[in-house]
Amino acid sequence: MTRESTSILITGYTGFVAPHLAAACARRYPRARLFGLTHHAVPRPAAPERPPAGVALMPGAVTEVAGAITDGARWREVLRETRPDVIFHLAAVSSVAASWRDPAHVLEVNAGGFIQLAEAVRLEGVAPRIVVVGSGEQYGLARPEEMPITEDTLPRPANPYAVSKVAQDLYAFQYYRAYGLDTVRARPFNHFGPGQSADFVIASFARQIATMETGEVPPVLLVGNLSAQRDFLPVADVTLAYLALAERGVAGEAYNIASGVARSIESILHTLLSLTSIQVEIRVDPARLRPVEVPVLRADTTRLQRDTGWQPTVSLEEALRATLDYWRHVVQVRAAP
Ligand code: GDD
Repeated sequence: MTRESTSILITGYTGFVAPHLAAACARRYPRARLFGLTHHAVPRPAAPERPPAGVALMPGAVTEVAGAITDGARWREVLRETRPDVIFHLAAVSSVAASWRDPAHVLEVNAGGFIQLAEAVRLEGVAPRIVVVGSGEQYGLARPEEMPITEDTLPRPANPYAVSKVAQDLYAFQYYRAYGLDTVRARPFNHFGPGQSADFVIASFARQIATMETGEVPPVLLVGNLSAQRDFLPVADVTLAYLALAERGVAGEAYNIASGVARSIESILHTLLSLTSIQVEIRVDPARLRPVEVPVLRADTTRLQRDTGWQPTVSLEEALRATLDYWRHVVQVRAAP
């Protein structure tokens, strides 16, 4: 990627990470043309439950393009309209919890969507670098002796979401080997920050705390499995890793993106609670428990650091505080007359 006249296409533009990534791209490539693919018609309808993006972008910095990633014909038009040098393929059904409810749809979007993209790239004869966003969940039920997980660890996906991401990953490799598509496979572990949906654990806890701080709801915090351990990275460092992979990732290769530290959900909750003065009762909500729980995920990121020079820049505590402050702001704005 050069700093001049680059065209960058980010899929999943209505999602959590894409606006953060677009802001990082705009800072790094001020003269780039930025496109955000959204499956909603533009302008999209207001969604009261969707949190605001949590990131400031200059108006008009990103041109939104509408299209479903499962629509191959539309993909070919989008490629002609945007002529991307780089595609960050973020679009997905991203909730593990939700994936149990409609496994077929998850596979169609998460793996089928990539196939449609790859076929369109091949048929159009274009050659963008494609950063294919998978997941640390692909490793699933990794064994204790396999920690920290390297990219060569056997995938043991434990839910429909993870299976769909393994399938996408395999297709990304296959299209690289068979047709020379310039794919780099990113495997981000858990990430969080402003703008994330409260379907995910840190956003859920932060939103509940911010709402309880107003005094309008009883101080009862609903939780799922607190013993699970996850490797959390602030979204700002995830976006820097995606950029690093676009610039310096080796074609065909897979890369873990994570902090390298596993933390229990309980310890994350206690850190968040140390940032508020209210006293809460913690209550397990059976609806938040999953049919299969992955006990521990902790990544080895040696390959990412070695090939790209990427390093994390934000501490977990700092990012948790920023996330809680973000939800305080959202709750206040929504409460305002
Ligand atoms: N969502 C949620 N809500 N999770 C809870 C809760 C709760 O109230 N209480 C405990 N948990 C536990 C979950 O059981 C899980 O072990 C952990 O917190 C994290 O859950 P999520 O935040 O929903 O994320 P995830 O780990 O299932 O998946 C996320 O990380 C993947 C990478 O590792 C998602 O962001 C995926 O899209 C991503 O690929």
